[in-house]
Amino acid sequence: MISGQKPLYGTVRMASMKNAALPIIFATVLVADRCVIKDLPDVSDINLSLEILTYMGAVCERNGRETIIDTSGIRPDCDIPLDLVNKMRASYYLVGAMLGRYCHAHVGYPGGCDFGTRPIDQHLKGFTALGATAGVKGGYIDADAPHGLYGAHIFFDVVSVGATVNAILAATCAEGLTVIERPSREPHIIALANFLNACGANIMGAGTDSIKIRGVKALHGTPDGEMIPDMIEAGTFMAAVAATGGKVKIENVIPKHVESITAKLIEMGATVEIDEDNETVTVERDPEKPLSRVMVKAVPYPGFPTDMQPQICALTCFAQGTSYVSEGVWDNRFRYVEELIRMGAHIMVEGKTAIIEGANPMRGTLVTAVDLRGGAAVVIAGLAAEGITVIDNIKLIQRGYDDIVGKLKNLGAEIRLVSFPD
Ligand code: EPZ
Repeated sequence: MISGQKPLYGTVRMASMKNAALPIIFATVLVADRCVIKDLPDVSDINLSLEILTYMGAVCERNGRETIIDTSGIRPDCDIPLDLVNKMRASYYLVGAMLGRYCHAHVGYPGGCDFGTRPIDQHLKGFTALGATAGVKGGYIDADAPHGLYGAHIFFDVVSVGATVNAILAATCAEGLTVIERPSREPHIIALANFLNACGANIMGAGTDSIKIRGVKALHGTPDGEMIPDMIEAGTFMAAVAATGGKVKIENVIPKHVESITAKLIEMGATVEIDEDNETVTVERDPEKPLSRVMVKAVPYPGFPTDMQPQICALTCFAQGTSYVSEGVWDNRFRYVEELIRMGAHIMVEGKTAIIEGANPMRGTLVTAVDLRGGAAVVIAGLAAEGITVIDNIKLIQRGYDDIVGKLKNLGAEIRLVSFPD
């Protein structure tokens, strides 16, 4: 429950990046040894992925900032309950990791946010190129390579984070050289490659247009699995400050990762400064000064992230003039728009573009988090709107934001968790 129109002031620290931590957690299956991972975010998707590994026979222990994951005792034929893997998208990284380790994988079809169709043809293409037979049947993804995996040239037809992760996982211990063309260039791909290299892999070029992997016989554990800061959490807080006005120092950010977001917020009238330590950004906006309209197109990294598209759309509801927010990654990532309309926003969605007539009065009401980032969008709208906003279904927000309520409260937001009888 949010009582809106309170400017945000103070300092807030970002957690590690969920979408970088997930591939690394599932990569430990391939490592088949004891790994220590630092600073995993406390969000439900991470806790669920540790639960899945524990079910498979791994030992997972969280000790303060460190999480120990020992996958040496994983059962190769373990049938993970569908209702565990169905709750998240990233569980399909188990296919690449299990195939890489055992030349065999049988994993329930994953779940995740509803953005229209979410095909996995590129994942299957990667596995097949490496010599496996792979397909989907009866609610499961199956991949088998009875004669082993062999390095190959993989050219992806679309830029896919998940397919790039799975190809890296399957190729790391394959025999010979694999070249992945048109991979995702997201920071989490670099984080995964760094982690696997620390475990003895030979992966070069992550973050560029071509990744080269020389297969190694086996990996070993690492005592020092480092995480990277969550650029989407940082972008969400940056947009929140731009929406409410105020001045907030955001710590544990890699400014380069949020460059595309910074550029749009500056266009809209906020100031964004990078501190000398290069790990802190300060966002400021005078609450009395209007925000300007903007045009945004969400595309793969290093462009404006699709995972910030709903939040920037919420922000444009408070800007003067007509803004255009286009989605260039997913078929349908505008389900949250209806929730903003309930609050008074004037938004039309035409194809993959939302056209926002900004600066219409926004007033709090009962809204729903339709998915993770759509939920973050209604939080931003609630923080800047007049009156009380009640957000339902916040478990979807808690999948990816570590203590969002506590962090916003510390910055002066009037926000609290409430429960209503069913
Ligand atoms: C990851 O999903 C993220 N999830 C998503 O973040 C993010 O929106 C997305 O990448 C794009 O950046 C995780 O990291 C867990 P994709 P992923 O494969 O890997 C098409 C969030 O809010 N495609 O890069 O599933 C696909 O339909 C979540 O934290 C194929 O056509 O996304 C889409 O149009 C939501 N065939 C595009 O590629 C395939 O085989 C990008 O999808 C695979 C994908």
